[in-house]
Amino acid sequence: MPKVVAWPIKTTELHTRQLNSARWNAFNFRSDDIIVATYAKSGTTWTQQIVSQLLYRGAEGINVSRLSPWVEQRILPDAAIAALDLQVGRRFVKTHLPVDALVYSPKAKYIYVGRDGRDVAWSFHNHQFNATDELFQRYNAGMPEGTPIWERGSDDPHEFYRRWFDEDSYPLWPFWHYVRSWWAIRGLPNLLVLHYSDMKADLEGSIRKVATFLDIEIDEAKWPGIVEHCSFDYMKRNASEIAPLGGALWKGGGQTFINKGTNGRWRDVLSADEIAAYDLKAAAELGPECSNWLAFGSLRDVPRVT
Ligand code: A3P
Repeated sequence: MPKVVAWPIKTTELHTRQLNSARWNAFNFRSDDIIVATYAKSGTTWTQQIVSQLLYRGAEGINVSRLSPWVEQRILPDAAIAALDLQVGRRFVKTHLPVDALVYSPKAKYIYVGRDGRDVAWSFHNHQFNATDELFQRYNAGMPEGTPIWERGSDDPHEFYRRWFDEDSYPLWPFWHYVRSWWAIRGLPNLLVLHYSDMKADLEGSIRKVATFLDIEIDEAKWPGIVEHCSFDYMKRNASEIAPLGGALWKGGGQTFINKGTNGRWRDVLSADEIAAYDLKAAAELGPECSNWLAFGSLRDVPRVT
């Protein structure tokens, strides 16, 4: 007998420099929508590229950034959301919201990707330090009076990390809460959980997993192209089509956004005490199973609720 599924219910709004969660309240879900759900810098664009390659059968020149907006991005014009209603093909959008601030639809399919917080922080340091002045202007504009100005900061990722760790993910939204919220719903039937490390270790297997989850039949003749177009080197070369806004808000363009594509760059920078402090905090915030998964990936298949 099928079990009753406890669908998540939105209980809060998140309004930050980056986020306007209320955007989801009027989102017109379709029964085949795909939502790529990640904390920032966890492989969002990569996952969007995988989905687009599966949907468009390995075609090149797909403008992922235009087709697949970040729905709750505060600075995204409303017109970009309105344009989603006009899309005729299967839609795929991205969100960086924790589950409690999202409208979670039983109709859609969600792909959640995790990445170690230290890798997220290293990646975001590049994202922030190499952003154009325009990016800061756009995010600082329109904030309530008294909101601290978001600035480029130091070129030292270690310095960035210390503040990120001490101040609950500054300048982003709370990281631990985010991961906890998605981990808690990992058994839902319309959610696929991936990890950046697993995607790196087995790109082909990860793409096939996504295809199966989305009920997309792979045309094997197109397979080599699909895999190639999801590789780091290809995505870096073609970053002007794949990175958000074609990379227009980063010095050096999309190739700066698609940066190194590696984990563990913090290993030779953080002290042993800092690494231990992160591990302790992760275990306290997430519990042993989730913190272990977040650090290393390789979630065994979670039984789905049917
Ligand atoms: P780094 O900054 O560590 O290089 P997001 O899209 O969520 O903002 O994540 C960006 C991160 O994903 C960047 O990490 C980027 O290089 C990495 N990335 C993008 N495409 C990738 C790919 N094909 N393989 C591995 N990493 C990729």
